[in-house]
Amino acid sequence: MTASRTQTLAPDAAGLARAAELLRAGELVAFPTETVYGLGGDARNDRAVAAIFEAKGRPRFNPLIVHVADTDAARALAVFDGDAERLAQAFWPGPLSLVLRLRPEAGLSDLVTAGQPTVALRMPAHPVARDLLRVFGGPLAGPSANPAGRVSPTTAAHVLAGLDGRIAAVVDGGACEVGVESTIVATGGGPARLLRPGGLPAEALEAALGAPLRLAAADPDRPEAPGQLTSHYAPGVALRLEAHAARPGELLLGFGPEAQDAAINLSPGGDLVEAAAGLFAALREIDARAAAEGVTSVAVSPIPDHGLGRAINDRLRRAAAPRPDAASSL
Ligand code: TXA
Ligand code: MG
Repeated sequence: MTASRTQTLAPDAAGLARAAELLRAGELVAFPTETVYGLGGDARNDRAVAAIFEAKGRPRFNPLIVHVADTDAARALAVFDGDAERLAQAFWPGPLSLVLRLRPEAGLSDLVTAGQPTVALRMPAHPVARDLLRVFGGPLAGPSANPAGRVSPTTAAHVLAGLDGRIAAVVDGGACEVGVESTIVATGGGPARLLRPGGLPAEALEAALGAPLRLAAADPDRPEAPGQLTSHYAPGVALRLEAHAARPGELLLGFGPEAQDAAINLSPGGDLVEAAAGLFAALREIDARAAAEGVTSVAVSPIPDHGLGRAINDRLRRAAAPRPDAASSL
């Protein structure tokens, strides 16, 4: 169904028209958002959604985030309660996904919600994502555009490194600004719950809600957001977290001015926004350097656990978790 070579499309009128044409034909097109690149497919088309799972090699029980152009499109798909209204008003478009009650008449593929009565909706802020959604004129299912178990792509080159030949096209919109996936919040049926920390700090959400978020219990066997699966973001080397220096035979993935001998420093100035934006590229790079140098362990500096640091630490803990399947490494 997909072309044997993946086309790279420019984010201009001609490129987006081609991308929309491919999507209408049920093909897959990766596109930039401000968080990470998404693997787009028509969320109403079962075959397109099935092709997303196939291209990613993703376990079938994971429901996908559905991207929309505006709040009208979102309201046609799901029911907004008071908390959802407040959060959408404050943070859309932006790096926030809301898990809401699905409207039965929404017309979404059952595969996109994994048959659940809820749907995760996101209105991205990236101008290319917004233009593509408008030109396509419908909802796009879009998990991160990487094979299952690998780190999320933040450039078109990362997308091709994992999926070249498996998808029809990628729209090249440059590097993603935020660099970690959206924050996922479920509302309704009690206090709002944080299902996945991400590009929008929990503190900002709590300020808008005027109440603390409940943390969803992470149960790897029954993940409320399967992004909670440990080892979801695993590189090939072992990571030793909260390390202040590299031991002999280790490389250091550093953060802040104290990390003098870091092979890569996520932010020499200690800026969490810069660190998040470069996190996945740094994990790829340190993995490649470790392999080239025959190093099997990487020490990682402590990252402050507030703001975007919570999302960074969440991704690092997953990357450090032992993997059931070593073949899923980078
Ligand atoms: O930043 C992002 O969120 C990126 C960009 C491309 O938008 N997308 C992304 O999608 O990370 P994905 O599919 O890799 O992660 C979506 C997460 C998964 O853990 C999924 O299971 C969860 O959202 N999710 C989707 N629908 C859900 C639902 N109805 N209830 C609970 N969790 C849900
Ligand atoms: Mg992902």
